[in-house]
Amino acid sequence: MEKKNIEEELEYIKKVNQIMQAKGKKYHILTMGCQLNENDSEKICGMAEEMGYTKTENINEADLVILNTCCVRENAEDRLFGKLGEIKKLKEEKGTIVAIGGCMMQEKHIVEKLHKSYPFTDIIFGTHTLHKFPSDIYQTLVKKSKIEDVLDIDGEIIEGLPIIRDDKYKASVTIMNGCNNFCSYCIVPYVRGRERSRDPKDILDEIKALAKEGYKEVTLLGQNVNSYKGNGNLGIDRFSDLLRAVNQIEGIERIRFISPHPKDFTDDVIEAIRDCKKICKIIHLPLQSGSSNVLKAMNRKYTKEQYMELIEKMKKQIPGVVFSTDIIVGFPGETEQDFEDTLDVVSKVQFEQVFMFIYSRRVGTPGDKMENQIPEEIKHKRFERLKQLADSQVQKNNEKYIGTIQKVLVEGKSKNNSQMLTGRIDTNKVVIFQGKDEMIGKIINLKIVSEHMWYLKGEI
Ligand code: 5AD
Ligand code: SF4
Repeated sequence: MEKKNIEEELEYIKKVNQIMQAKGKKYHILTMGCQLNENDSEKICGMAEEMGYTKTENINEADLVILNTCCVRENAEDRLFGKLGEIKKLKEEKGTIVAIGGCMMQEKHIVEKLHKSYPFTDIIFGTHTLHKFPSDIYQTLVKKSKIEDVLDIDGEIIEGLPIIRDDKYKASVTIMNGCNNFCSYCIVPYVRGRERSRDPKDILDEIKALAKEGYKEVTLLGQNVNSYKGNGNLGIDRFSDLLRAVNQIEGIERIRFISPHPKDFTDDVIEAIRDCKKICKIIHLPLQSGSSNVLKAMNRKYTKEQYMELIEKMKKQIPGVVFSTDIIVGFPGETEQDFEDTLDVVSKVQFEQVFMFIYSRRVGTPGDKMENQIPEEIKHKRFERLKQLADSQVQKNNEKYIGTIQKVLVEGKSKNNSQMLTGRIDTNKVVIFQGKDEMIGKIINLKIVSEHMWYLKGEI
């Protein structure tokens, strides 16, 4: 895939910077989606700050408000429109520039609703036009015109955007974008386009630069990471090749990746996880449903048995491996028996963490057109039953850690108690402990002494 030269777009950063000179303008950003969406926001922040804006957490003092939207589930829409009600007042009072971007802007009916009900929006930009944000801002400032900058086609691969990262010791690196799977519940293929993988050299250069800056942990991101396709550069074709190459980067001590698809979890990936010391031995493996019938209707391309076989194979080959997962309850046609199959997989696998979602109809997906939709009440009851089972397992899993020594990447002071430090163990659980400030940013050994459902307590 061709890479795009963005020098022309970056020129607009300078132009905005010139007209904004020393004006002390502030921006506020609200990120509503997944980690890919967060990674996009980090790039938006990078562009905004190079244009001369400084970040504020207080929306009321912002001159520019940016909403980076998600559309995977309906509640994201409710959140956006709720927020816009609030922003309308700001716009009227002080003329704040309002920019809305992200996945939801790729949906025509949403953009129409914005035009009709929220006409004060200045800039609408999509997932394929992120890099044009500086030129959108420039047009708004100079021409005072409304901008709609959404592309329907698959975007190009954009390299070289400035970025301001949220964390100092762990970073997300997008390795591929888009999805070819068309699971029948999912809107992502329609808003993010087809799969496009970054050049392995660009990825490795980015991670090497992160290591130099002191980053210890990277999470490789993509809608379907294990269908990553390198162009052969540096001998990297497959996802497993990329994992092995990242594992060799000095300074990086932990590697994570999300999300893989069970159908693409080939043996070479399993072997790479086994062989590479730095890859965390917690694998996020989205199940979605434990019923083969529902999986077929979801177009997931594996059965309950195949999923269980994959788990067993990994447990055999990768000592100490544990799993987390995503599950949707109440997909059209899901019977009580189907739902019990899901509970069955959950009790067998003993996931470290289960991300649970109530099925949400998405306009334009096959699931939305299915006639056998499940009543809200049943969906909610099933959700509660699944939650109870998953929570009881979290507690059981937590107890396993008590008395063990764990490696912890120390991230900083605890938000709730500034006397304590906080970090995460390999399997991503939060640990709180008493330590010295110079430990921040390092990986240290801690003894786990107690569990508190959502976090563990440790001692040096
Ligand atoms: N309804 C509910 N959950 C969904 N997800 C994706 N689409 C939907 C939908 N329409 C969940 C899946 C996916 C996670 C990111 O969001 O579990 O893995
Ligand atoms: Fe992420 Fe998908 Fe939501 Fe976009 S629609 S922010 S890719 S979860």
